[in-house]
Amino acid sequence: MTHRVLLLPGDGIGPDVIEQAKRVLSRVADIHGLDIAFEEALIGGKAIDLEGQPYPESTRALARAADAVLLGAVGGPQWDGLPAGDRPERGLLAIRADLDLFCNLRPAILFPELASASSLHSHLVAGLDILIVRELTGGIYFGEPRGIHVREDGIREGLNTDRYDESEIRRIGKLAFEAARKRDGRLCSVDKANVLEVTMLWREVMQDLSSDYPDVELSHLYVDNAAMQLVREPKQFDVLVTGNLFGDILSDIAAMLTGSIGMLPSASLNSQSKGLYEPVHGSAPDIAGQDLANPLATILSAAMLCRYSLRQGAAADQIERAVASVLSHGHRTGDIAGGNFTGATLGTAAMGDAVIAALDEA
Ligand code: IPM
Ligand code: MG
Repeated sequence: MTHRVLLLPGDGIGPDVIEQAKRVLSRVADIHGLDIAFEEALIGGKAIDLEGQPYPESTRALARAADAVLLGAVGGPQWDGLPAGDRPERGLLAIRADLDLFCNLRPAILFPELASASSLHSHLVAGLDILIVRELTGGIYFGEPRGIHVREDGIREGLNTDRYDESEIRRIGKLAFEAARKRDGRLCSVDKANVLEVTMLWREVMQDLSSDYPDVELSHLYVDNAAMQLVREPKQFDVLVTGNLFGDILSDIAAMLTGSIGMLPSASLNSQSKGLYEPVHGSAPDIAGQDLANPLATILSAAMLCRYSLRQGAAADQIERAVASVLSHGHRTGDIAGGNFTGATLGTAAMGDAVIAALDEA
């Protein structure tokens, strides 16, 4: 059986990190006898420049046909002046909507070797292992009406709509409960149910669902408190589930706690486990093409791709073990070399080499 994997390198450091993740996937495919067929297409700023839109038709066709998509990053200063509807980020929103990737999994795991890179004291983050489950195709990101218009009184008004129906809340809730069940059995649902009706419904549906999961302990927090708790005592959390906007914000906080956003992978899945996998970090245009970017978040995203879309858990475990081993052997790219690191830092390709070498031992 051939697995079709679509590579969308995108902008900035996207191509740098995708190249290394592709090498790792190819090696893992050899080891496990998997047949992976890679294709490549445009997304984001480069797609705007070459095809006039951030998620061109040709990319859409390949993405729909693929079993999984691995994306680098989109965006850069040269596209910052474009109107909201034409920006590279719209390509990302478009592919999420097009493939119905409603379930975004953002693990925030602290590798022990990187504890000193966290913005919090190491005793607060040692052993940190949180999973943020973010609803990705609804809420205020997609709600209508939206836009900027001139009102009758001549004043301009910007407008967005936060909305969720029960079925959208239930489907993300179920996956979050399932995820918690496979972990430490604790799920915290984050809302703003003291003010926003849309999240009052969110809380009600989560509460209803919990009777189907007696083995999972459900709690609720308002988003402002959740943000505070994440920086006060992050290890109290196991799985967090929340809507699109709150998930965007809380996942950046969680990323910072781990010391390097350059380490964090993500998966965005539809109901058939087709997925888009991407690092949590952005396109870092200032270091693009200079062999400086950390490819580990993309390599770890490739591991998630093996686990969730290709259903190759052993291959996924092996990639993750290889990354852990590379870190424990003291290999660092510049972004994770802080604190008392005294060795020589590795470039993007050399880090890819190190992971590939470690695969054979992992
Ligand atoms: C993310 C990003 C995106 C989002 C942007 C680039 C559209 O911040 O994936 O977290 O807001 O979802
Ligand atoms: Mg974000």
